[in-house]
Amino acid sequence: MKTIKVNITKALKGEITVSGDKSISHRIVMIGGIAEGRTRVTGFLTAEDTINSARAMISLGAEIEGIGTETLIIKGKGLRGLSEPENILDLGNSGTGIRLLMGLLAGQSFFSVLTGDASLRKRPMARVAEPLRQMGANITGREGGKKAPIAITGSKLKGIDYKSPIASAQVKSSLLLAGFYADGETSITEPMKSRDHTERMLRFFGAEIKEKDLTVSIKGGQRLNAGEIVVPGDISSAAFFLVAASIVEGSDVVIKDVGINPTRTGIIEVLKNMGADIELFNKRDFGFEPVADIRVRYAPLKGTTVSGGLVPRTIDEFPILCIAGALADGETIIRDAKELRVKESDRIAAMAEGLRRMGVEIEEFEDGLRIVGVERLNGARCRSYSDHRVAMAFIIAGLKADGETVVEDTEWISTSFPDFMNKLNSLKG
Ligand code: S3P
Repeated sequence: MKTIKVNITKALKGEITVSGDKSISHRIVMIGGIAEGRTRVTGFLTAEDTINSARAMISLGAEIEGIGTETLIIKGKGLRGLSEPENILDLGNSGTGIRLLMGLLAGQSFFSVLTGDASLRKRPMARVAEPLRQMGANITGREGGKKAPIAITGSKLKGIDYKSPIASAQVKSSLLLAGFYADGETSITEPMKSRDHTERMLRFFGAEIKEKDLTVSIKGGQRLNAGEIVVPGDISSAAFFLVAASIVEGSDVVIKDVGINPTRTGIIEVLKNMGADIELFNKRDFGFEPVADIRVRYAPLKGTTVSGGLVPRTIDEFPILCIAGALADGETIIRDAKELRVKESDRIAAMAEGLRRMGVEIEEFEDGLRIVGVERLNGARCRSYSDHRVAMAFIIAGLKADGETVVEDTEWISTSFPDFMNKLNSLKG
């Protein structure tokens, strides 16, 4: 077990970049792998989760050079060019990796088995297995296919019109990838819009994706043409520094080249509502994704409420948002966020426990939290529950706590942001 000790800090200052977007990095190895031609990727996230996805694609016959670096060359195999893997595909900690691959593999002509670590094996897989079965997929697994390991015997698929009960980009993307292999049209309607990186990337690679209100549709059999991809910085990684600079007096930080896809910028909206001093400049596009440089300066925060359509746009930022809420004036209320219970950990329980240890009054709901802000936290021993974002959130909390904060199981940070501590230390001067 790795632990990290944190003490109160002086102002954070400087200019950083954050590592490449995790969602886009997962998608590019899968989509590049079934495209025709050579895809060059720069800014790829070199973290455990995305490297596992790249390795899985290599096991499926895709040629990928540069694993372990930020520049990949993917020699796509075309829609029908993947082949049966010799061994189990291990997606480690990644829900995106396993669920998107389930969609990609359902319509192949071969057998595959997917699994992951103890956390991933606890997470719900029925949300993709069930609609994929409606398309004709042959999926089994633990608890009747509700949990990994998941076994897929490739089969002929047909398009369906699926109304998803949850706003989930993983469900949507899994069905879109399966839709390439299905006869007819596959449509997915979500209750609220989730991140749309898959739709944007598929279009960039030449696929026709229809979109009307909350429904996305794809026709089977379309060809994808390889392209040149620059991955923007991950706003979910930048979020830790947006909050850090907002809570530490005197801070002034610039984060360059951050993806600002509107389906991901909930954190900026919420922090601005709380009174944060955040400025976006140098707005431009990296191919099919909008990017900006972000300046954030210390500003006193006030409590807020986050619920409804803002939740999917902020979904991965709730751990760090809880820290912002804990240091805001007044109460912060998070509702409609039941999905947080089935992320890499139960993030509602994990954040409530750690913040209580740091002296914060918290009320837990099934779908959220009520946090009563304080001026300064008390240093404490906080558990990460093997969750990268919980670990990083408590490290940031420690910067504004009296006494030492010890965060346990911090090795999990390398699933998404191996360079996190170096970036943070560089801002301490
Ligand atoms: C992701 C979608 C979100 C998010 C996850 C990454 C993606 O999950 O929490 O970290 O890349 O599609 P859901 O789609 O399950 O909400």
